[in-house]
Amino acid sequence: MSARIIDGKAIAAGLRAELKEKVEAFGKTGRTPGLAVVLVGNDPASAVYVRAKARQTVDAGMQSFEHRLPEVVSQDQLMRLVETLNDDFAVDGILVQLPLPPHIDATALLSAVDPAKDVDGFHPINAGRLATGDTRALSPCTPLGCIHLLKSVEPDLTGAHAVVLGRSNIVGKPLAQLLLGENCTVTIAHSRTRDIADLCRTADVVVAAAGQPEMVRGDWIKRGALVIDVGINRIARDGGYRLVGDVAFDEVCDRAGAITPVPGGVGPMTIAYLLQNTLKAARQRSG
Ligand code: GUN
Repeated sequence: MSARIIDGKAIAAGLRAELKEKVEAFGKTGRTPGLAVVLVGNDPASAVYVRAKARQTVDAGMQSFEHRLPEVVSQDQLMRLVETLNDDFAVDGILVQLPLPPHIDATALLSAVDPAKDVDGFHPINAGRLATGDTRALSPCTPLGCIHLLKSVEPDLTGAHAVVLGRSNIVGKPLAQLLLGENCTVTIAHSRTRDIADLCRTADVVVAAAGQPEMVRGDWIKRGALVIDVGINRIARDGGYRLVGDVAFDEVCDRAGAITPVPGGVGPMTIAYLLQNTLKAARQRSG
């Protein structure tokens, strides 16, 4: 049996088309949602993401504001920029692209973003709202995308045992909260978890967000399980470079019921949900 491939690229395109119509309807109230992106330094991967975000923001009918700052920018300068964006009426969403240079205190900076404009969902207020089931929460985009992809295959996840591999604040922890909200039984596994392969074999849903290339092997997966691969790892292979996920795709395909590819799975969903969060923030700010 070969797994159904979940086409994140097509699903994200559909979401963006729906969103564009909603943005147009919102525009009739006299305002266009605006997203500000802050990029520090010259990390090539971050520059690619930021360009894609800006293009898709404009394509969805929203305003894009880009702020590029040199690697040597100070904490104070960044804090002042965030305060300016917090006070700017036209800005509904603020995203500070990660990673930040090591001299910047990212926690302090992300906590300075107005929670009402925190479209990444990284502010402690939004993490708390997500954990308490408050529908005003702006939740992190990659986990929202993962849930959407799972529900595209299985609309009711009630009672499923979901194993999340990885405990980051950006993916693992918020994803566990969202899966709980879908009535799953959730286990978070991480680098110190014992017998991780045996644990995965008990899962109906496996979400891999561990940052370890091809860590999840075919014999870790129960037949028919749903597998979501959040990993994006650039590895040297066959004299060149290849992008691989945290899942050994070909092996897992033989056992899973459905699986996301890398690229073209979770990645496109993250930006689609960033745009959704920007519209949600704009609506909530409009009262
Ligand atoms: N860098 C990689 N992924 C993300 C993300 O989801 N948000 C931000 N702000 N930076 C990132």
